[in-house]
Amino acid sequence: MPLMGTKEMFKKAYEGGYAIGAFNVNNMEIVQGITEAAAELKSPIILQASAGARRYAKQSYLVHLVEAALEVNDIPVALHLDHGPDFETCKDCIDGGFSSVMIDGSKYAFDENIELTKKVVEYAHARGVVVEAELGKLAGIEDDVNVAAKDASYTQPDEVEEFVTRTGVDSLAIAIGTSHGAYKFTPEQCTRNADGVLVPPELRFDILEEITRRLPEFPIVLHGASSVVPSYVKIINENGGKLKDAVGIPEEQLRRAAKSAVCKINIDSDLRLGMTAGIRRHMAEHPDHFDPRQYLGDGRALVKEIVAHKIHTVLGSEGKADEVMALYNANK
Ligand code: G3H
Ligand code: 13P
Ligand code: ZN
Repeated sequence: MPLMGTKEMFKKAYEGGYAIGAFNVNNMEIVQGITEAAAELKSPIILQASAGARRYAKQSYLVHLVEAALEVNDIPVALHLDHGPDFETCKDCIDGGFSSVMIDGSKYAFDENIELTKKVVEYAHARGVVVEAELGKLAGIEDDVNVAAKDASYTQPDEVEEFVTRTGVDSLAIAIGTSHGAYKFTPEQCTRNADGVLVPPELRFDILEEITRRLPEFPIVLHGASSVVPSYVKIINENGGKLKDAVGIPEEQLRRAAKSAVCKINIDSDLRLGMTAGIRRHMAEHPDHFDPRQYLGDGRALVKEIVAHKIHTVLGSEGKADEVMALYNANK
């Protein structure tokens, strides 16, 4: 199966009330953990690399790792640039074999975002590559994404039609209350349930509904959608880690989003937690081990476990590989 774009994935996901998981990749074990889970559950997936991933692993390693995963697993896979910061990075990825790119112009004013997005769309579409853009600003901190909560802003529904029409973009990332990283909400922003567990404010489904009304059948993307799975945080903290008050998006809300116009759900932090939990527990249980294959192998196993759980329980994309492949082949 060659790398594919996201057009067929999103069409099927929209019609079928499920979402495609977009998982961030940074090394071989992460690529293997994700693709092994997807292959076992026969799910289409998006593997995405951020600018930080490109710096860490180098673009050609990432492309070849993904190509190797495609040789081994027969599932529909798109390779996507996550949070492309500028035209040049998008161009590099398009020229280097990515099938999808995101241009993240959300830091710019509306017209500037449109101008930049349009330039990327023109270059990408001429080469058969699809483009995701972003309107609104998510809070959160990662390597190249750093927005304080006070600077975050919801997507304004009255801007989306003009943005999509003027740019020609293929999908749109929106801000409805998700946030990047493992500390999505401060304890002050949350309430506590009977067990004292932090409960974050609900996502703004009203904004999502209004955007969907204005953009019928158009694929919407949710960034910052890790649940910060408590069982993995627990393993980390029981084995020497110190993650205090880490809180993510509840799974029921992501499931609700996946049933709606949201066709792509971005997950990175949960993979980081899985990998770290596997490695920390291995190191604590086997202080005499020093072969990286032993502890990285355990990290990879938890990445696989977490991706399988997302596909089965959150995204609803289990068993959807064949219908996506059939549409892709029909459109060829
Ligand atoms: O949204 C950002 C992704 O999780 C990538 O994070 O820039 O630290 O690689 P990164
Ligand atoms: P999380 O930090 O919630 O995993 O979000 C990842 C993301 O949005 C990548 O673009
Ligand atoms: Zn993101």
